[in-house]
Formats: sequence, C-alpha cells, structure tokens
Amino acid sequence: MQTHEIRRRFLDHFVKAGHVEVPSASLILDDPNLLFVNAGMVQFKPYFLGQQTPPYPTATSVQKCVRTGDIEEVGKTTRHNTFFQMAGNFSFGDYFKEGAIQHAWKLITAPQEAGGYGFDPERIWVTVYEDDPEAAEIWERIVGVPKERIQYRDGKDNYWDMGVPGPGGPCSEIYFDRGPEYGKEGGPVADEDRYLEIWNLVFMQDERGELSPKEGHPPIGELPKKNIDTGMGVERVALLLQGVDNVYETDLVRPVITKAEELTGRTYHVGVHEDDVRFRVIADHARTAAMLIADGVNPGNDGRGYVLRRLLRRIVRAARLLGATRPVMPDFMKVVSDTMAPSYPELATDFARIERVASGEEAAFLRTLDTGSRLFETAVGDVKAQGGTVLSGSEAFTLHDTYGFPIDLTLEMASEAGLTVDEAGFRTLMAEQRDRAKADAAARKQAHADEGVYRDLLDRWPTEFTGYNELNSEAKVLGLIAAGARVPTAGAGEEIELVLDRSPLYAESGGQLADRGRITAPGLRLRVNDVQKIGKRLWVHKVTVEEGEVTEGAEVLAQVDADWRRGATQGHSGTHLVHAALRQVLGPNAVQAGSLNKPGYLRFDFSWQGGLSEAARQEIEEVTNQAVLADYPVNTFITDLPKARAMGALALFGENYGDRVRVVEMGGPFSMELCAGTHVASSSHVGPVTILGEGSVGSGVRRVEAYVGMDSYRHLARERALLAGVATALRVAPDEVPARVEALVDRLKTAEKELEKHRAAAILASAGTLAAAAERVGGLLVVAQNAPAGVSPGDLRTLAADVRGRLGPQPGVVALFSVADGKVPFVVATTQGARDLGVRAGDLVREFASHINGRGGGKPDMAQGSGSEPGGIDQAIAHLRAAIAARAS
Ligand code: ALA
Repeated sequence: MQTHEIRRRFLDHFVKAGHVEVPSASLILDDPNLLFVNAGMVQFKPYFLGQQTPPYPTATSVQKCVRTGDIEEVGKTTRHNTFFQMAGNFSFGDYFKEGAIQHAWKLITAPQEAGGYGFDPERIWVTVYEDDPEAAEIWERIVGVPKERIQYRDGKDNYWDMGVPGPGGPCSEIYFDRGPEYGKEGGPVADEDRYLEIWNLVFMQDERGELSPKEGHPPIGELPKKNIDTGMGVERVALLLQGVDNVYETDLVRPVITKAEELTGRTYHVGVHEDDVRFRVIADHARTAAMLIADGVNPGNDGRGYVLRRLLRRIVRAARLLGATRPVMPDFMKVVSDTMAPSYPELATDFARIERVASGEEAAFLRTLDTGSRLFETAVGDVKAQGGTVLSGSEAFTLHDTYGFPIDLTLEMASEAGLTVDEAGFRTLMAEQRDRAKADAAARKQAHADEGVYRDLLDRWPTEFTGYNELNSEAKVLGLIAAGARVPTAGAGEEIELVLDRSPLYAESGGQLADRGRITAPGLRLRVNDVQKIGKRLWVHKVTVEEGEVTEGAEVLAQVDADWRRGATQGHSGTHLVHAALRQVLGPNAVQAGSLNKPGYLRFDFSWQGGLSEAARQEIEEVTNQAVLADYPVNTFITDLPKARAMGALALFGENYGDRVRVVEMGGPFSMELCAGTHVASSSHVGPVTILGEGSVGSGVRRVEAYVGMDSYRHLARERALLAGVATALRVAPDEVPARVEALVDRLKTAEKELEKHRAAAILASAGTLAAAAERVGGLLVVAQNAPAGVSPGDLRTLAADVRGRLGPQPGVVALFSVADGKVPFVVATTQGARDLGVRAGDLVREFASHINGRGGGKPDMAQGSGSEPGGIDQAIAHLRAAIAARAS
C-alpha cells in the first residue's frame, strides 16, 4: 500500500468517526521550546492545557515532523530518520482510553478491502504503563488481545510528555511482530526490532512540571479534562505494508537513493557500508531539507537555518564522496518533490524557490569544499605525524570561517579519520570573532563591564518611556554613574551615565539609533550623547554635563531634539516600507536579517542567494515610493503575540518578544511589523526614498542602503548637478550624455590605437639610422646607443632585433638603452657571426650592468634588463665597447 494511501485511510477512518480533519501545521510553528514541530499534538497544545477552547471536540491530522537530535546517526543504521509523518487522532475531553483503543484497533485490523490496514491481529502486541491496569483491561476484555501479548512497562517507556513542562500522560503502545528473522521471542520488552512500534496512544491527563513523571516524579497537577493524543508512524506502517525491510526501501524514500545511484554511478546495497551510509544520508536529508525550505527556512548560521545548512552540506559531501562531480541539488529536490507532492502540494507549487535555495547553498559550499577538504587532510596528516589525536580549535575555526564547514561536519570528518576536535578552543575563537564584530558598535557605547552597579535601579525602577507621546518630560534623576561606579553628583565637563524615572529619549534598539537631546533644570544643562537599554528595561543616558551640577534626586526636564527625532522616524518608517517592498518584489523569503536607521539614512539586511538585478532594485524603489505617496496612516497598537502573528505581523526570528507586543501597521497588509520604534504619522512624511545600491554582507545575506527625507532629495539634487556639469562640459543635453560618453570612449580607443601604431612606426623608422651608424670595434660592427627616451622594453627589443637584421651575417652587436619613468631599460642583441666568435649577449650584460645599477640577463643572441641610474649610460656604453674589443681580439 502506497504511503499516500496509508495517510488517506487514516484520515478517512477518523473523519468517519466524527473527527475534524486538520491540516498539518508548519514545521516551524511558533513554540519557544521547539526548533521544529516534532509531534502531531504540538498545534493542539493550548487545547490540552485549557488555555484555549478547542473549536471541535475531536480532530485528526497527519503532521509533518522533524527531529534533529541525532543527525550524525542518520544513515549509519536504517533506523534513524530526521523527517517523518505522524498520523494522529485527538480528543479534547471527549472520548478517553476505551475510545482511543477501539478506534486504533479497528483501523489496523480491518481488512484492506474494508478500508483498514489489514494487519494480522495475532501478530499485534501492546504495552501499557505499569500503573494503568485499566488500559490492560480494555485491551483484554473489550478488544480481545490475549493477556500474553499485553506487557507492562515503566514510565521511561510508557509515559509521554513533550520533554518540557506541559501536558503529559501514561501511554499504551501498539507493536507488530515481524517474525523470528528479525529477533528473539518475548514481545516488545525483549526486542524492539522484531516487535516494531507503530502507534502510541497517550492518555493525556497530567500537567508535568520541571521534572518528568517518566523519571518517577509526580505530575504537578491534572489537566482540566481527560484527553487523547495519539501518534502513528506513517513510514513504519508503510514499510510493514510494503513488505520491505526498512524506511529507506519504502515508496517515498527509495526513489531518492535510485536517483543518487544514477548521479554517482555507484550502487546501493552491494556490501560497501560507507557508500550505503552516504546513500541513506542523501535520502533522509534531501526530504527533510525540501520540507524545511518549503516551510520558509533558509540556510543560516544559527537556529533552524543552521540545521538546514548542515543537512544540505552533508548531502553535498555525501554525493561527492560517492563520486558525483556536478551539482546534485536540482535532481534531489526534484525527486523529493515528485514523490512527496501528492501529500504536500507546496513542494510542487513552490518548487522553483526550493530548488533555488538548495542549489544556492550547494554552490556556496562547493566553492570552498575542495580547498577546505585539502586543508583538513593536511591538518589531519600533521596531527597524526606528531602522534596526536586532537585537531586544533584553530583548524576547525578556519574550516568554519573560511571554508564554510559547519563545526558538526568537521567533528564528523575528524571522527571518520579517528581524531577528536578541540571544541572548546573552537568555541573560544568563535566568541572572539563575535566580540570583534561587536567591537565597532560597542566602541560607541559605554562599557557595561559591571552590570551590578545598575542592579538595584533595574529591579526597582524600570524606566517609563514617554517618547511615543511627548518629546519633553519632567523626570527625576535616580542615579549617576561615573567610571563604572555610583556617584552622588557630577559637575561641568564630566561625562557620566544617568538614569531617570521616565524619559522621552528613545534608547537604541530594533535598528533605530538613540535620540539626541538635552536634560535641563534651572542652572543645569546636560547634553545627551547616547541612550542604551540595560536588561531591556532600564534607560541609561550617556551625557556630558555642560553647565551646573547634577545630583541624584534632582527634578529635571528631559528633552528630545525634535529635528533628530523627525529624521529618525523617517528613517525607521522608511525601513518598514523598504522591507515591505522587498517582500512584495522578491517574495516572503527575503527575510530580514538586521537593520539600522537614523535621520536621513537606512540600511536593511536580508537573507537572499545571489545579487539583485538592476530591474529588481528599481522595482523595489518604485514600490517603496508608491507606498510613500499612498499616504498610509501609520497605526500602532498593542496586542498579544499570537494575535499579532495571526494578523500576519512580521517578527524577527530569534528575537524574544514578550506576551504583549507592539504592532506598527502601514497600509494594512502592505506593512505590519512587531516594532517598538518611533514612526511618522503618515507614510508620506518619509519623503522620497532613494535606494543607493545593494551588495553582499556575508554568505546569503544582502544589504540595501537608502536615503530618506531631505537627505534623499539632496542626494538626487547632487546627482542632477553632477549630470548637468558633465552635460555642459560635453556640450550636449543631459539625456544625450550617455550616448556622447560612449562615442567619446570609442573615439579615444581608436585614437590610442592609432597613436600606438605611429609610435611604434617612428621608433622602428630609426632602425635604419642606427644601423648606418654602426662602428667597428675589433672585428665587429657595434651599435651601442642611447635610444630616444620613453621607449618601452618591448619596443626596445623589437628595435634591437630590427637593427641586428640590418647588420646582416657579419659579426655584430646591438646594445640599446632608453630612459623611461626613471628606469633604464636596455637590450643587447648579437648576430650569428658575433656568437661564432664567442661574443654572447648575456655575458655582455654582466660587463656593464653595474654602471647603471642594473640587472638583467638572457640568451647568447638576446638579453635584456633594466637599471636605475640614467647618468651611467655613457660609461656603460664605453665599458661595453671595451669588453667587445677584448673578446674579439
Ligand atoms: N505525542 C505522542 C508521540 O509523539 C503521540 O509519540
């Protein structure tokens, strides 16, 4: 039975029994405890905990799941998989143990003609929790499973929870006996290979605390209702119903292996264990990677992105080791899409993007894989040669930093080579690098070396931020810090940090730089240079005391520089508009990776493979400016996180938001983001937005920069003035400038070529004159001359050869010097006749070179070089003549 059919039958069975069919949740459903959804119940968690009222009493789903706890085990055996599908039925206070057991039994044992899976009831075994005789009783009395095939197990096996505080309960598991060829008799307690678990029924009734009832700790309470959560492994049922040995042989996985055989020319399962591991790595990871990309994960350096990067790079490496020489991702993604799309249509509809992301990562890795691997081999060789067993942290760091090897890949490669890696050393270097990257920003900010000095302020006085509604606020000075210590007062000229009970000054966050402003009182004036948050709650103002003395407890007026703030809001709202335009033009994968904005300027980083075309840049700029002109009112409101997400508000992945969040909305769906920044009242206040350009800032991250407001206008005005200047100089209208410049460049090139021809001709024309001026030295004709200045070495050589030709067969030497750019290029050429007499060009060079502080050499017929003393040329020539005379005599 095909896997798609197994899924379909499961859902139909439970829908017929009154369950609502719920689609699989995204793999990256928001749950702070989970990297990826790893069980069918995850999307229903609030219903179990009583936090939300379920819209239906019972439900059924087939959930896509990813578990990445043991990636490096994948492929070594046939048991581990990172992706699987969990079919489940759920009851929220409706039926309980008896209902769950009967529903499951019916589906697995009903004949296939009747819509069931048709498992032989005689080969089904079940386990129950040691304290749950009730479940055993139901299996035996109501369902009719004989006592011998019901086994009791403790919490480790038969209690289920999410591994974190939350819902849990005792469970009962259903196993199928695969027969004696798979292991020994005795039921699941004796052998879980022979007795394969296919379905887990959880009787969800407890709330567990920090410690799990799996380890014998009592639950901290009861759930409001008794619930059912079950999980059937679709792939396991598939392998049994397809009569194959393991998941890798099933209908949805084996085609990937077959494709890998085609691409690499090797064969799976012919007795080469290393190869088989690689085939399985590819088959498993290709599926998982495609599913993750489909759900919006992009390769990156931490969190989910890192897992995806690791999976993709492991595929590339496995394929290489199997002998693939060309990129493999397009083929692997295609075969996954073809096999899986009937259940997950997004794999087909979104194929172009999936393929692009996977191939982009492959290309990035391939650029460095070979060099990195060579470096790795050398390092391993060195370690072994010295009798060591540990690869240094700095090698691992170089592999990571320069060659893009995820640390786990290095760990694996090292372990394949019988070595370990100094991971601590690696992490130290990583931390140092991160610190260096932050150093720039940190240099501007105060060093919070000792947060302790703020501790009592933090605990008692989180700063009230008044700056959304007013620019001037009365406030009280709660504390002064100078050189890392609390001080009671500070006087004129001092630079200190100051904490107020309330402040209208925006503290740098969310990419928006801190407000500038002042803090005053009669006789007192402080200039605010920077504002930073500590612990997200305490505003620390970095100030210079310009006049008077400030004391703890003083009543002051804190004032934002209104011009600065206006510019900052333009920058920040402009950033939201550019972000929205980027997503409109490039699609939802252009995920924000960082931003910075200040008056007049913004920059925005986002994940993207490859550069943006000029057309895309223009379109983004146009969409942004249309949004400005649309004059969207900017609405901000506070809501809770799930509501904000349901509205489609964008959040930064990895950012820790509280329960209550602030949403900034412009033009309804056009732009909606979680954001604590300050914004303009209406999009038109941002003014014109000019996107300057776009570039790369690291693997897969692009950056756009833009001017907003008056700075944008000034930038355009400057460019227009420049163009006008150029047009005037060229004496054409501005729009004729490009054609004119192109024509000029062409003419210049032609003229240069022409000039070059003339120069060469002129130089060569002097060959006849030079040859005619040959003198006799000993029995030889000698042309030794200072040629015109500025002749290049190449021309000098041509000239010398020409003169030599004119001397004919008789013994002769040509030596030409020139002066060009302070250097003295020279060439010596000899005729055959001279060489017959033993006069060699190379030897002659050595005779005179010292006079011009020169070096050079060559063959007997032609030698050349260069000196640096033009004043020595005459002497060199004289010495050359003497040397020739001496040789010829
Ligand atoms: N939630 C249960 C499991 O994951 C069904 O096994």
